[in-house]
Amino acid sequence: MKGIILAAGRGSRLYPMTLPVCKPLLPVYDKPMIYYPLAVLMQAGIRDIMIIIPLGEEGPFYRLLGNGSKWGVNISYEVQEVPRGIADAFLVGERFVGDDSVCLVLGDNIFHSPDIEQIMANAGQINEKGATVFGYYVDDPRSFGVIEFDDKGNALSIEEKPRFPKSNYIVPGIYFYDNQVIEIAHSLKPSARGELEITDVNIEYLKRGQLHVIKLEDDFTWLDAGTADNLLSAAQAVKRVQDVSGRYIACLEEIAYRRGYINGEYLNILADKLKQTLYGQYLMCL
Ligand code: DAU
Repeated sequence: MKGIILAAGRGSRLYPMTLPVCKPLLPVYDKPMIYYPLAVLMQAGIRDIMIIIPLGEEGPFYRLLGNGSKWGVNISYEVQEVPRGIADAFLVGERFVGDDSVCLVLGDNIFHSPDIEQIMANAGQINEKGATVFGYYVDDPRSFGVIEFDDKGNALSIEEKPRFPKSNYIVPGIYFYDNQVIEIAHSLKPSARGELEITDVNIEYLKRGQLHVIKLEDDFTWLDAGTADNLLSAAQAVKRVQDVSGRYIACLEEIAYRRGYINGEYLNILADKLKQTLYGQYLMCL
């Protein structure tokens, strides 16, 4: 399975912060935002990763992440020149995906759970055929994709940003698809707001009877860091979880080490470069 991170949004809702630096490179507490979606792909066991970035940002992304070899993964980059919608990721990434299945993560979404590796591995395995998305309970679902369920918990409908939501379950920004997604993306028409909607992709899988929805439990945390308030809340949430648990969220070196992608000796070399920080000292303790 391939992994795509869609991180080509400039972050206009975060101006002036995002005038000199694009949104996915902003910090969320103690790490750049892009570490969080990258971590979740690594936790899903995905090692071939393409990051879709805005035009002109190749240098900063490359300086931060390189080709991923320091964490034992392969990272490549592709530019999305115009923000044509989330489903455009499959047109930009068509050659990269090839005949494979693919997991798409949004560059400003943060996921955390003590069982995240298990949850993501299960999601990746379900869809030998079809798609797997998650359902996450929120108080106000109006600015998201919203899923309606029947009495047995089967998905009945999905609507993008409905004025009158049919449930409180939204689809967070991580999606597992089989290779049909490429053909589906090609068939999409832009929505009223002029975008190729990811919700339309999910509706097509639903019509084909091939959409699996996993409801996330209460101990799962999902955060969208798209506005200044959300960014602050996300940073506070990351700090709180790390302080209470003593474990780092989205620590790429730790994930790589625990999955056997890098050895202890190499982890020490990486830790040494960061030793002035608590992050580096945490790596030393591993
Ligand atoms: O966060 C989950 C929600 O994400 C889902 O529930 C919705 O169904 C889905 O449409 C999406 O809604 P948003 O309104 O939050 O999406 P937004 O336009 O903010 O895009 C999400 C990220 O993707 C953002 O970091 C920018 C990036 N992006 C977006 C578009 C449309 C791109 O890189 N290129 C694009 O063309």
